[in-house]
Amino acid sequence: MTYQEFHARSLASPEQFWGDQAKLIHWFKFPENILSKDEHKLFRWYQDGMLNTSYLALDHHVAEGRGDQAALIYDSPITNSKRIYTYLELLQAVELFAGVLKDQQVQKGDTVIIYMPMIPQAVIAMLACARLGAIHSVVFGGFAAHELAIRIEDAKPKVLLTASCGIEFTRVIDYMTIINEALDEAIFQPSSVIVYQREQYQAPLKSGRDYNWETLLQSAKPADYVPLKASHPLYIIYTSGTTGAPKGIVRENGGHAVAMQFSMKYIYGIEPGEVFWAASDVGWVVGHSYIVYGPLIMGATTVLYEGKPIKTPDAGAFWRMIEEYQVKVFFTAPTAIRAIKKEDPEGKLKQEYDTACLRYLFLAGERCDVATLEWSKSVLSIPVIDHWWQTESGWPMLANMVNVELLPIKPGSATKPVPGFDIRVVDSEGENMPPNQEGAVVIRLPLPPGCLPTLWNDTERFIKSYLAAYPGFYFSGDGGYTDEEGYIFITGRIDDVINVAGHRLSTSEMEEIVAAHPAVAECAVIGVKEELKGQVPVGFVVLKSNANIYEADLEKDLIEMVRNQIGPIACFKKVMLVPRLPKTRSGKILRKIMRHIADGEKYSTPSTIEDATVLSELTEIMVDMKVQ
Ligand code: COA
Ligand code: AMP
Repeated sequence: MTYQEFHARSLASPEQFWGDQAKLIHWFKFPENILSKDEHKLFRWYQDGMLNTSYLALDHHVAEGRGDQAALIYDSPITNSKRIYTYLELLQAVELFAGVLKDQQVQKGDTVIIYMPMIPQAVIAMLACARLGAIHSVVFGGFAAHELAIRIEDAKPKVLLTASCGIEFTRVIDYMTIINEALDEAIFQPSSVIVYQREQYQAPLKSGRDYNWETLLQSAKPADYVPLKASHPLYIIYTSGTTGAPKGIVRENGGHAVAMQFSMKYIYGIEPGEVFWAASDVGWVVGHSYIVYGPLIMGATTVLYEGKPIKTPDAGAFWRMIEEYQVKVFFTAPTAIRAIKKEDPEGKLKQEYDTACLRYLFLAGERCDVATLEWSKSVLSIPVIDHWWQTESGWPMLANMVNVELLPIKPGSATKPVPGFDIRVVDSEGENMPPNQEGAVVIRLPLPPGCLPTLWNDTERFIKSYLAAYPGFYFSGDGGYTDEEGYIFITGRIDDVINVAGHRLSTSEMEEIVAAHPAVAECAVIGVKEELKGQVPVGFVVLKSNANIYEADLEKDLIEMVRNQIGPIACFKKVMLVPRLPKTRSGKILRKIMRHIADGEKYSTPSTIEDATVLSELTEIMVDMKVQ
């Protein structure tokens, strides 16, 4: 079947199509109700099906005779350690840790926060929660205590799982200090904190609250999987929205499992027993879908890499991994490739390794610039596939589906919509834009299985953020355009979300922090193009008339405030003093124009601007300060 036929079938009869795809996985009870609407009139998939994701990822493969096959390869150049878990070993580890959780009274429907580095225990913890029907929420280790506290407050976890430390290149990050600060800030308190003590640093534990992971394992008994309704949430993952409060994206067991199996098979073209590697972090959606659940549900071998693309030890790290583990399909972010290219522009280190095993390189997480795509292709001599997705979708929405039909690659485009996604580019009235004209990227409802059904405890915000602007459609937050052949080009966010090194961050959240400084009268934080990370945030600050502070001191203060509240991952490193900000007559800051000026792009002066002379003033300052 051609891609065109496959995609058309999915839209012509979604129930039939996704009913067929549901047969790709093992259900305890196959759903009769493939697509329905809930009490809020929101679409839901497979409501009455029964399954367990941990069973699908582990027990099922052991039962099928795959127990001795490698399930998880852990490779940590940062700690100089490696370990391979077979399916049987991983199952046993998950069963036992599920027993630990059970001993802590964790039950189906409870939430558990996981704040851990890239170690096998993080994967084991996720699968153990899934086994019991506990809903995990993994928080990325680069977030500061305040961000963790917000998530604790919202998710209300029964238990918090962590490790004594994370390691960034050579820097040991003491996680317990972050946990302690977060729990000091949060009103809600989990009943216990379970800490995996790493060799590199042993954290002091608080008696009565903190428990040693290994000690609890010694007295635990293996716990069996709990059959769950397809609509039962598997996890919550928080992502940046356009306000300071992150959104709790909910992922349901049933739709997610089908989407994982479908995408592993058709998009990535992976067979059971093959090695698939996504070089991300379990704290991001890519890590959830394609380090943990996707490859394991498929019965493939997944790779957990605790390292960086460069300096661990060098820019050949990825190529070494591909050769050593015979990786068939590799997924990373364009930033990682740009980092390698910067260190090794001619790809000399690549020549030291035999990567003939690799069929495809997939890139996502941010816009992929043409130079990065071309460089990867020339170094690897294989198809390099840009694909587009979001935390909300949980799996690709635009892709070149290598196991259906490899379409000609057009650099700058993530190719065409994946089955189930009816993607349009529209104007502000919801009318389709003609080819090559930019508009908002929206998706006709229902979204296919696996995408968010709602936000955690906030259906109202879900409707307001995603569904209200274009009735009958989901608004992605991205802008883009199509070409005459139906290829879609995503050009970037059209809201206040920015993408720094493939990480999604909210500029309004940074603005709230900057505005809290006593010397700041008003401010705007915008994302400015940057060679390595794609975008970085820059703060533009107007001082209070009575402020008495040196620019360098203010910058230092603000950088520290953002770092302490959001985390180092915000990469907030530049602040500029300006006499005023461009505004409309009604007082709205014109951030979009500021972005255009900073990126050296053309813009048209809006008729609503209060005083257009501010734009040339701003341009001069940005040129002087080398922002432009
Ligand atoms: N825990 C604690 N701190 C973390 C962290 C973690 N898990 N991850 C990143 N940080 C810190 C970094 O140490 C750095 O701190 P610093 O400002 O003190 O140096 C800061 O957050 C910014 O990190 P990062 O953006 O990763 O920059 P970097 O300079 O350390 O590394 C790259 C540059 C290119 C190597 C790195 O950005 C990279 O690997 N990018 C690919 C990203 C990716 O795979 N994204 C996929 C998401 S799907
Ligand atoms: P996140 O939810 O963190 O995965 O970030 C999702 C956002 O990253 C999307 O809304 C896009 O803005 C951007 N993004 C992800 N993949 C791509 C891609 N292939 N091309 C362009 N932008 C992308």
